[in-house]
Amino acid sequence: MSDKQFKHKLYVKKNNDVAFTASTLEKIQTIISHYPNGQQKSALIPVLHIAQEELGGSLNVDIMDYVAGLLDITPIEVYEVATFYSQFYIDPVGKYVIEVCQTGPCAICGGEDMIQYLEEKLQIKVGETTDDKLFSLKAVECLGACGSAPVMQVNTEFHEFLNLQKIDEIIAKLRSESELKKPEELTWKERLS
Ligand code: FES
Repeated sequence: MSDKQFKHKLYVKKNNDVAFTASTLEKIQTIISHYPNGQQKSALIPVLHIAQEELGGSLNVDIMDYVAGLLDITPIEVYEVATFYSQFYIDPVGKYVIEVCQTGPCAICGGEDMIQYLEEKLQIKVGETTDDKLFSLKAVECLGACGSAPVMQVNTEFHEFLNLQKIDEIIAKLRSESELKKPEELTWKERLS
């Protein structure tokens, strides 16, 4: 083991409660094998997606440290990436994560009004989750669909050319779908289905 690798290990806090299954570890090994030797850090984003999906729907420090250990990188390298991209959640989130674009083109087409309307409708502020754990609201930067502004993303689904009526319909549909199963009974994978 090189000095560099040894130094990394010193900073990785072990938590035996955090672990992927054997089949997930195999999947991760395959992802790492797509990159040149010593460049396993390149697998960080796909591994974080897997961690978020399989270890409870968000990334806490223990999970990020575990990922750092797996990829033999420092925890700070994982924190930097996990806190930069809005698709990674550091705090627990609701069943539906509503991300409204707040960047210029969406903002001037009514994005800010959409955020305010959602805050009033859901009775939460940006960054919060409803008491029933159904909705989390986030304001994010450009979602890459500026030509369809204003835009929001709910989990993996895009909603473009938003207006207040569309928001009412989307929230009503999600609420009726959620009645099929209580939020606390859903796995993270079911949230994405
Ligand atoms: S500015 Fe909103 S999607 Fe690009």
